[in-house]
Amino acid sequence: MSLFGAKSQSLQKRAQKVIPLGVNSNFRYWGEGITPYVERGKGAYMWDVDGKRYIDYRMAFGPIILGHAYDEVDTKVFEEIQKGSLFAMTGELEVALVEMMVEMCPGVEMVRLACSGTEATMHAIRIARAFTGRDIILKFEGNYHGFHDHTLWSTYAPIEAYGNARSPIPVPASSGIPKTMRENIITLPFNDFEGFERMMRSFGDQIAAVITEPCQGNCGAIEPKPGFLELIRQRTTEHGTIFILDEVKTGFRIASGGAQEYYNLRPDLATYAKALGNGYPVAAIGGRAEIMSIIGKGVSQGGTYTNNKPGVAAAYATLSLLREQPVLQTIARRGQRLMDGLKDIFEDNGIPVVMSGYPAMFSFALGVDGVSCQRDWSTSEQDLYLSLVEKAIERGVMPDHDAREPWFLCYSHSDADIDETLNVYADIVKEAKK
Ligand SMILES: Cc1ncc(COP(=O)(O)O)c(C=O)c1O
Repeated sequence: MSLFGAKSQSLQKRAQKVIPLGVNSNFRYWGEGITPYVERGKGAYMWDVDGKRYIDYRMAFGPIILGHAYDEVDTKVFEEIQKGSLFAMTGELEVALVEMMVEMCPGVEMVRLACSGTEATMHAIRIARAFTGRDIILKFEGNYHGFHDHTLWSTYAPIEAYGNARSPIPVPASSGIPKTMRENIITLPFNDFEGFERMMRSFGDQIAAVITEPCQGNCGAIEPKPGFLELIRQRTTEHGTIFILDEVKTGFRIASGGAQEYYNLRPDLATYAKALGNGYPVAAIGGRAEIMSIIGKGVSQGGTYTNNKPGVAAAYATLSLLREQPVLQTIARRGQRLMDGLKDIFEDNGIPVVMSGYPAMFSFALGVDGVSCQRDWSTSEQDLYLSLVEKAIERGVMPDHDAREPWFLCYSHSDADIDETLNVYADIVKEAKK
């Protein structure tokens, strides 16, 4: 089977001779003949190497909040890199960027920059361990916090491997993660109030940090049940445990102050990347000054590229635009129309659907009537979801090939793009129903 043209396929074969799987991140490999190879993008569109155009709903797994090759961002980057792209010294622009982040993100009093979401969560975990003098991290099944060994547990394993929900078994998502790391990780189903209470009662005083995405942005954008994030806030405070909110996907996307603004929540630490830089490599760890200020006092954090000029300039331009223009309001309006339209299409065809997430970042599970954690989500009809994605891609509409990955919108998606997408889905769902 092939989903893409001749050039994509021959590039895949060429790439596989020198790059494992022919891609530079495992998630980008969709299979033989069905792995996209991309030439360029502009606004909401992406062209593959065969020259075929797609309305892009992957948005590079979320970073593109304004649009591909967005002129105002690229101009600022170009202006800055002409003065030098890296000094590994501090400049004024990064100070201004962090000041802007502190103003935009409630509860963020100090920030350290990093280059990727993986780095940001890795550093946040170290800061939490250093602050508490404890080692154990509690994370939720189906959440993904990057590729480091500390939390790459119970992310994508078959549900049977997770054991009983009352006493979940943490499952490493890769060979090569030291077995000894198992001693320092506790996993739980998301939205499990009772399990969380029990775990905090038993081990709260030994847990350095509870880390969570505000919604399960790596498992169908499952939203927190009302009160769940608040419960985490309450119990972590009582036990002197650090609450790390991983806003790598939600930050500067679901609200300009991210999930902290959206849910009126104040975690101790928060991590950012993705929409912060509209596609350039920039990330951040932010939080309460009392905790952040231990950095440098026996606590290591840094990196040669942590204030790279392209990333800092792009973030500065992106956040400035988020403040000056109705970026998120426009995305919310168009995204809501897309969510509502898709829901109607499935319902009109008698296919049970659960929509989840936010207009800027949403997902849907088919054939189920409620989803509150990865265990529920895994019972949804993923084969149907996937066959629809492949038909949509043939018709020039590209969500990710993995049902766990949300649809992302950017400021450049137009009403006409939403109409075209709904027309495509109306056709392919009707066909599938037949
Ligand atoms: C919530 C979350 N945290 C961390 C990461 C890791 O970010 P990066 O891919 O920039 O290392 C991701 C990536 O998708 C993510 O979704």
